[in-house]
Amino acid sequence: MADDTTDTKSSNQMWGGRFASGPDAIMEEINASIGFDKKLFAQDIRGSIAHATMLAHQGIISTDDKDKIVHGLNTILSEIESGNFEFSRQLEDIHMNIEARLATLIGPAAGRLHTARSRNDQVALDFRLWVKEELQKTEQMLTGLIAAFLDRAEEHAESVMPGFTHLQTAQPVTFGHHCMAYVEMFGRDRARVRHAIEHLDESPIGAAALAGTGYPIDRHMTAKALGFREPTRNSIDTVSDRDFAIEFLSIAAIAGMHLSRLAEEIVIWSTPQFGFVRLSDAFSTGSSIMPQKKNPDAAELVRAKTGRINGSLVALLTIMKGLPLAYSKDMQEDKEQVFDAAESLELAIAAMTGMVRDMTVNTARMKAAAGSGYSTATDLADWLVREAGLPFRDAHHVTGRAVALAESKGCDLAELPLSDLQAIHAAITDKVYDVLTVEASVASRKSFGGTAPSEVRKQIAFWRARN
Ligand code: ARG
Repeated sequence: MADDTTDTKSSNQMWGGRFASGPDAIMEEINASIGFDKKLFAQDIRGSIAHATMLAHQGIISTDDKDKIVHGLNTILSEIESGNFEFSRQLEDIHMNIEARLATLIGPAAGRLHTARSRNDQVALDFRLWVKEELQKTEQMLTGLIAAFLDRAEEHAESVMPGFTHLQTAQPVTFGHHCMAYVEMFGRDRARVRHAIEHLDESPIGAAALAGTGYPIDRHMTAKALGFREPTRNSIDTVSDRDFAIEFLSIAAIAGMHLSRLAEEIVIWSTPQFGFVRLSDAFSTGSSIMPQKKNPDAAELVRAKTGRINGSLVALLTIMKGLPLAYSKDMQEDKEQVFDAAESLELAIAAMTGMVRDMTVNTARMKAAAGSGYSTATDLADWLVREAGLPFRDAHHVTGRAVALAESKGCDLAELPLSDLQAIHAAITDKVYDVLTVEASVASRKSFGGTAPSEVRKQIAFWRARN
């Protein structure tokens, strides 16, 4: 076990050679990161095994010591995984907790592990590995969310709903088309995730404290063993770079923003006033006082998680701003921001995937709403351009008059008698009624990326092939 009985007054057993006494209690509290960086234990052990293996391969340590180190590290891994490891705050962080335990387990050979490395490249490695895995998980989760939307889009390629601008009824669209808008958004998020994985795919280990090392290490070997494309190219940059964490947070912030827009739409759509969707019991809550209520709490919380994620991004940008090269302890504050944002993002994607898969879509309500608010006014104007040869601006004006008339009569455009329409413009014939229905309206919008069911199906096929 890690020695947790070390007197706080004695100097640090890992770096205290020149220190006569140990840290003040407050110093220990502000300095320690073990409370949160213990999350990096698996990455730390993986990195150490690759490092020790390389050291032995290069003849820098003996094979015997390497074997002891690797065996000891594997023991520690199972101790931590099974909850039988005592983390010590006096040992500051995950790196020194593991190394101290290794010394207890294997004796002096443990002291050879830290040859040709520093905690600066060690932490850069551990954190990069962690962020890389998190990005890979995010990529998969986004794929799941996209799949959920593709299924709903296929099911509702023909279902008509009002399309909005300014949250005012604009033109009829299909629910499938609306779902595909989210596929585009989350598809872009996933592309950003893939780029970020490419950017960070360089191994920091071997940069040492900042200047590299005089030992004949092989950084290409450790990079390969740890699944990186190649080693980083500048040791100073390597230990001072946290771009990979900031990129993760930026991607999370953009995805969080998308998720919050979806959340907001679900909140609006599930009100009794809209009634476009009904959330499953599994993704809603009741009220302790109002028995009739079904609240979209999960959607509201997804909307709120965006705030935490944005906070983390701004926090880390601010932590890094103005830091001189290379490593400064400020950078220890990077982890909690990333861990918290990652947890929020995972939860938000999972909750949204569940909601999208489970919600019941009320196509009748959507269709009724699609037809109200003179949503086919543009179709009337377009008909006047096409069939009567009017310039669009004139057609717009004529249509405006027809809308005003319908409004004064309290009816829809399609309910205005032909005589009324002809009084506004003589060229109108009864053929116009063909374009005033919502179905005709959406079916006509066949332009690439448009809302016509035929076009939506093409876009679904495009994404299915890429998901
Ligand atoms: N716990 C530290 C961190 O997270 C590890 C690196 C410490 N390096 C140092 N030179 N004090 O940043």
